[in-house]
Amino acid sequence: MTTLFEPAYAKVNLTLDVLGKRDDGYHDIKTVMQTISLRDDIEIDVGTGKPWVLTCDKEGVPCDETNLAWKAAKLYCEVTGVDLGGIEIRITKRIPSQAGLGGGSADAAAVLRALNEHCGAPLSIGALAELGGQIGSDIPFCVIGGTCMCEGRGERLRKLPNMPECIFVVCKPDFGVSTPELYKKIDSAAIPKRPDNNAMEGALLAGDLAKICENVYNVFDPLVTEEHLEMNYIKSIMNSYGAIAYQMTGSGSAIFAIMPDFEFAAVVCNMLRENYPNIFISMPV
Ligand code: C5P
Repeated sequence: MTTLFEPAYAKVNLTLDVLGKRDDGYHDIKTVMQTISLRDDIEIDVGTGKPWVLTCDKEGVPCDETNLAWKAAKLYCEVTGVDLGGIEIRITKRIPSQAGLGGGSADAAAVLRALNEHCGAPLSIGALAELGGQIGSDIPFCVIGGTCMCEGRGERLRKLPNMPECIFVVCKPDFGVSTPELYKKIDSAAIPKRPDNNAMEGALLAGDLAKICENVYNVFDPLVTEEHLEMNYIKSIMNSYGAIAYQMTGSGSAIFAIMPDFEFAAVVCNMLRENYPNIFISMPV
C-alpha cells in the first residue's frame, strides 16, 4: 500500500463576469481566478485491497460517491483504465463549504493530480484539467492553479503571470449561497457594473498590485449583498482597517480583502473573529 499526499488550495475570483445563459443551462463567464494558501489536505491510500472509503474530519461533508473527490477518482480510473486495487481518501477540511472558495473542486483536483502522478503521469496536465471539467466547472482551474483567465463555463483557461506578493483575509459569514439559484437570479437582474477583465489582465502582466486591486469586481456581489446586509458590515471593517480591495468570491458567501501587509490583516481578523470564526489569512500560491 502507498500513501499519497496532495494539497488542495482554495480559489478566489479576482474578477467575475457573467456573459449570458447558454443552451445547455450553464452560463458563459469570464473570470480571473487565483489560488490562495488556504487549503484542505488530501491523503490517499492506494492498494488497500478493500472497497473504496472516503473520510473527512468535518461533519456535514458527504463521504460517499457523491463527493467530488470520489467522482474524480472514479472518472480517473475509468478513463485511464488503471486498477488502483482499492483506495481510501482522507480529507482534512479547512476550506468552508458554500463559500465560493472552490473547496470541493480543490479536493477533486488534488485527487486527479495525486493519482496521475502515482500512475506515472499518463495524462498531460491539460488532459487532467479537461477531465476535471466533466465533474465541475471550477475543477480545471483547480488542477492548474496559480493565476488564470477562465472563460466558457469556466473550463477554458489561459495562464496569467503570478499575482504579486500580497496578503488576503478571507471571511465566510454563517449563511451559504446556492450557486444554481444565484445564476438563475442574475438571468433576470440588471447588471449595472461589470469587471474590466482586460484591465485586470494588463495589471497582472505589469505586476501592478494597486491596479489589480482597482479592478477587483464580481457581478454576483451586489445580488448577494442586497439580501444579506451583513456583507456590508464585513466590508466596512475590512475598509476601515486598510483593505486595498474587498469583494465576494465566486457565488459567495465568502468575502476576501487584499491587505497592504500582515499586520493590517491580523487587525481585520481580530476585529471580525468573534462574530465570524471562519476567517483566514492567506497568500497567493
Ligand atoms: O459546474 P458546477 O457543477 O460547479 O456548477 C454548479 C451549477 O452552477 C450548475 O448546475 C449551474 O446551475 C451553475 N453554473 C452555471 N454556469 C457556470 C457554472 C455554474 O450556470 N459557468
